Amino acid sequence: MIASAPSLSSRLARVKPSSTLAMTSKVLELQQKGVKVIGFAAGEPDFPTWESVCEAAHAAIRAGEFRYTAVGGTPRLKQAIRTKLERDNGLAYADAEVIASCGGKHSLYNAMQAVLDEGDEVVIPGPFWVSYPDMAALSGGTPRIVMASEANGFLLTAAELEAALTPKTKLVVLNSPSNPTGATYSEAQIAELARVLTKHSCWIIVDDVYEFIRYDGARPRHLVTLEPSLRDRTIICNSVSKTYAMTGWRIGYTAAPAPVIRAITTLQSQSTSNPSSIAQAAAAAALAGPQSMLAPMVEEFRRRRDYICERVNSIDGLSVGVPGGAFYVFINGRGVFAKAGVGDGDALALKLLEGAEVGVVGGNDFGSRDHFRISYATSMELIERGMDSIERYLGSL
Ligand SMILES: Cc1ncc(COP(=O)(O)O)c(C=O)c1O
Repeated sequence: MIASAPSLSSRLARVKPSSTLAMTSKVLELQQKGVKVIGFAAGEPDFPTWESVCEAAHAAIRAGEFRYTAVGGTPRLKQAIRTKLERDNGLAYADAEVIASCGGKHSLYNAMQAVLDEGDEVVIPGPFWVSYPDMAALSGGTPRIVMASEANGFLLTAAELEAALTPKTKLVVLNSPSNPTGATYSEAQIAELARVLTKHSCWIIVDDVYEFIRYDGARPRHLVTLEPSLRDRTIICNSVSKTYAMTGWRIGYTAAPAPVIRAITTLQSQSTSNPSSIAQAAAAAALAGPQSMLAPMVEEFRRRRDYICERVNSIDGLSVGVPGGAFYVFINGRGVFAKAGVGDGDALALKLLEGAEVGVVGGNDFGSRDHFRISYATSMELIERGMDSIERYLGSL
């Protein structure tokens, strides 16, 4: 008798595939078949990586930087990460307190693996980025979602955070500007959340990947600066993906107390080893080089945000508040569910794909069944066509 394959790991039963990536590949699949779908699903800047950054990668290739590097990144990249933290956040971190990983997602995953044990509660403000609960579950944690209200611009209040924390809370995840809502905390609001966190012995992950894509021109001081006592238990995760239009290069980084970085380095040494040496050279150039290309990109995102919000709010049954950052609008679609014959944002997303040939992501996996997300990290021309198509389709129902 020929033996059959044994079962897969039960760990994987705890997680589901990323719904944003699933919709992105559905859009790609249709586009490859010749259907002219407009993709609003992918969360990545449509700008090219800066020439100076590409040149640093070419220089690394010419210099023959083809070997393994230190697990946590080259000295040059570590220095660039430290320079960035000092320049942009006023934070001093040592080499032993930073590590480079294979994208921000990897940095966040490693951080959760480093601090969570079976059954630990992880407080995640909602609506949330789809990967946080699954990463927490894969690390043995139990996600505890705390929904922020739409009326409050999807910003969690200090009182709501306080009410959610229990002695079982091992980790709190904060993300501003937020994916999927674009909700962006002011310095005063960060300070209020920080004050609550000083009273609870938990780890804090601060996901800063959209820190520069905010439209109020503010540069709020970091949580760790506002409450220095939190430095010992805060893990800052960031990435070059969104700020520098480098999603495909896969470089993320983490700043945290040395024991956390040591634990992550061990984990990385037994899993991925170092991120790509060539991508590290590019990321170092992006982080430590001139930052002047950033402002025009953010300005262009602002133009698109203003346009898209106006269009959405002019469509009967759809509504959105103007988000303060990131490049997403999280649209309340409840007002069209009945005429579209759907019961939630996921079903509406499928209708929009079939009927309007526009790929958006339903809100269910972000924590809200009333919403769907549009990423406006695509050209103004496509945004205009996509919004025309959504308007036409919903108007025809
Ligand atoms: C909130 C948030 N954090 C982290 C990431 C990870 O980005 P990357 O792995 O491309 O660096 C993303 C990507 O979409 C995100 O939206």
